[in-house]
Amino acid sequence: MKDIKILTNYWGKINPLKIEDYLGVGGYSALKKFIEKMNQQKALGEIKSSSLCGRGGAGFPTGQKWEVVAKNSIKEKYFICNFDESEPGTYKDRMIVENNPHLLLEGIIIAALTIGAKKAYVYINGNYETQKDILENAILEAQKNKFLGEKILGSKYFLEIEIFSGAGAYICGEETALINSIEGNRGEPKIRPPYPTEKGLFGKPTVINNAETVANIPFIIQNGGKKYAAIGSKNSPGTKIFILGGAVKNKGVIEAPTGITIREAIETLGRGLPRGKDFWFAQVGGASGRLATEKELDEKLDYGKNNNIPLGSGTILVVDKSINIYDLLLSWTGFFRRESCGKCIPCREGTFRLNEIIERLADGEISQRDKEAMQDILWTLESTTFCPLGKFAAVATRDAVDKLEILKD
Ligand SMILES: Cc1cc2nc3c(=O)[nH]c(=O)nc-3n(C[C@H](O)[C@H](O)[C@H](O)COP(=O)(O)O)c2cc1C
Ligand code: SF4
Repeated sequence: MKDIKILTNYWGKINPLKIEDYLGVGGYSALKKFIEKMNQQKALGEIKSSSLCGRGGAGFPTGQKWEVVAKNSIKEKYFICNFDESEPGTYKDRMIVENNPHLLLEGIIIAALTIGAKKAYVYINGNYETQKDILENAILEAQKNKFLGEKILGSKYFLEIEIFSGAGAYICGEETALINSIEGNRGEPKIRPPYPTEKGLFGKPTVINNAETVANIPFIIQNGGKKYAAIGSKNSPGTKIFILGGAVKNKGVIEAPTGITIREAIETLGRGLPRGKDFWFAQVGGASGRLATEKELDEKLDYGKNNNIPLGSGTILVVDKSINIYDLLLSWTGFFRRESCGKCIPCREGTFRLNEIIERLADGEISQRDKEAMQDILWTLESTTFCPLGKFAAVATRDAVDKLEILKD
């Protein structure tokens, strides 16, 4: 496996509170290149040719999203960096900010200027106070160095970045709920279309990108889209920060090219299971992720549209046979029960009832009626909810029923 580092190469080597350290390793040279040698069209061209796709879970092509907003001649536009990161087990965006906040800022500045926005927001989960302090310091340092504010590096460009703290609700990571939250409304999703690229924040064209997606931008501008496209898998190139947890020897965040298999992630990045532990399954993508059994370990970890096991946020939780599945199911279904925003009945009631049935299952008190009701509830969550959170709530339990046969007598 090639050792290519785009996002994590300076982690632990530079002080995140000192812009000089970032400048010392070539930081902000992509922004300088953008200002001195490129224009918005050229930068957009590089992002498109990189085939970068979103790291927030869905893998949507970044260049395509930017293009819609960049082409819109309206003056008021926004760029939002999604730093809500509430998926259980996922902490890659926080690690980016803790280790190299200026990489993220440089990406935000280039992104906003490319689409023609004069204001960018970082939407941060309200629980992340340390990361907020680090980002605030970085913004002040960037302003002092003329990377932000009026006449950026003596050019015509202007940009202001505001950090907006949410209340720490999982649903506020969903882009339309996030917009509602910044606008001062209740944090619940809106119907799409219109998509944020057409009618986003304050009704204006808006690009929303995940923090990890944004942190790739300086490399692409500095080295060219083609160089980025040659890394990792063809359909969704680049590197990915994987978050390994559970029964692996090497836990934590590890950057590797996209397209490695689940097996490679566990055996090479995670150095395998500790002695005496028997593999049972791996959950890929956080609490909303699917359960991959032995048969599926050669599935690729990328954003291919037809992947059996979606990569999602990049979290891989390795579960061995000593673990009580009911503990996990209680934790997953309990999470969605708490985080359902309550806007639509199938999710508000379904997440609640699913968690109750799992409680009875864990206590050995499940009835035939419960078993039938569970199938109905799973179908309802999968097929009728207003936003993807409802579908997410069913994923792990569905796989536990179908693959781990938890309902079998
Ligand atoms: C329930 C729910 C929660 C989400 N949480 C996050 C999140 O915490 N961070 C994030 O970047 N995207 C999250 N998303 C995805 C966003 O809606 C959006 O697709 C993403 O920020 C776009 O950025 P990207 O194209 O760079 O991936 C969530 C989606 C849903 C449905
Ligand atoms: S599916 Fe759940 S989170 Fe989404 S709108 Fe309905 S109640 Fe809210």
